[in-house]
Amino acid sequence: MEDRRRDRELIQAAIEARKQAYAPYSKYLVGAALLADDGEVYQGCNIENASYGATNCAERTAFFKAVSQGKRSFCAIAIVGGPMELGQGDIFPDMAYPCGVCRQVMREFCRPDFRILVGRSTEDFQEYTLEELLPESFGPRWDHRDA
Ligand code: THU
Repeated sequence: MEDRRRDRELIQAAIEARKQAYAPYSKYLVGAALLADDGEVYQGCNIENASYGATNCAERTAFFKAVSQGKRSFCAIAIVGGPMELGQGDIFPDMAYPCGVCRQVMREFCRPDFRILVGRSTEDFQEYTLEELLPESFGPRWDHRDA
């Protein structure tokens, strides 16, 4: 139950992070909250660009913030996403699954059992492991699997 409460808090942190999304082109706002092994939470949002390919996803924003502050070990990430008109208290129509590039970035720093929570609200979310969302993956040579 305690774990479930912590997961809900992580989803809530992702919902809050989504408020900062800069997405004038797609109008699809995404928020992420990344939990480091030491308990610190790093929030991220998507940041779009007039040159569309320069866009950064919410998940990568969270990871790059954390890694740039020296963090290298993580336990979980929560992700929420939905159209611009939806706000704080709303239930998002769909789960926002991480894109392939973000999954690969996770693969660089996370163990196969890293938890990925995708939510429609703090009461409605699903949990996956990185291994489930990125099977048979290519990773760094220092991979935890070989340890
Ligand atoms: N987006 C994310 O932030 N995370 C994902 O995993 C999927 C897509 C963003 C990128 C773009 O700003 C918008 O959602 C629409 O694709």
